Amino acid sequence: MQILDATAAHAPGITVIYNHAVQHTTAIWNERTVDACDRRAWIADRHDHGFPVLVAVDRADGGTGEGADDVLGYATYGPWRPHDGYRHTVEHSVYVREGLQGRGTGTALLGALVDRARAQGIHVMIAGVDASNEGSVRLHERLGFEQTGLLREVGTKFGDWLDLAFLQLILEPGGAAGPSAAIQGESSGIRTAPVTLPRA
Ligand SMILES: CC(C)(COP(=O)(O)OP(=O)(O)OC[C@H]1O[C@@H](n2cnc3c(N)ncnc32)[C@H](O)[C@@H]1OP(=O)(O)O)[C@@H](O)C(=O)NCCC(=O)NCCS
Repeated sequence: MQILDATAAHAPGITVIYNHAVQHTTAIWNERTVDACDRRAWIADRHDHGFPVLVAVDRADGGTGEGADDVLGYATYGPWRPHDGYRHTVEHSVYVREGLQGRGTGTALLGALVDRARAQGIHVMIAGVDASNEGSVRLHERLGFEQTGLLREVGTKFGDWLDLAFLQLILEPGGAAGPSAAIQGESSGIRTAPVTLPRA
């Protein structure tokens, strides 16, 4: 297994994982499935804004790792809230393909995402997790996240009210840029450092 920056070629694999979560789980509180074209645009939008999309891929057969079945999981982050003062905080998510969970892929993806966030000078990472999602809560706790919030019955899916747990990790005191950068008039947006993508 390798962790790579996603390219447009990984969109079909990401689509399969995303749609399964939409249709069968409360890991994501959306009800509409998407197509690969949608996910290609989403990957491009994340990159345009300096945010990573990481994929875990299987290249055991020496292939490209870009087939829909080669993507084992993905992880990403984006803005936490759309106000200037939150620009050193991100909200992330991680998904592993159904049937391949519980083998360490989520740990590898989230670990790589934390490393990327630290390299970008992000100060805080936050996951909003269905409070009954024991796998995700355990994964985050394993990597040092702590639950700092619980909002009761703010979501609904499959006819139930859902509680939202927030798990957060503070990466560096003050962040690489430090909160004073905001006071000195740093422009809005989280791009404290651009994401460097490997060549395709
Ligand atoms: C949550 C998820 C990302 C974890 O990834 P994973 O590859 O299955 O997790 P790992 O194999 O790396 O295991 C990480 C830890 O979580 C635990 N874990 C994983 N699935 C679990 C489950 N269903 N119940 C309880 N613990 C679980 C593992 O035992 C391990 O803890 P340990 O080291 O103390 O044994 C994955 O199960 C998944 O994609 N689930 C569906 C989508 C989802 O819920 N995404 C999170 C939205 S924020």
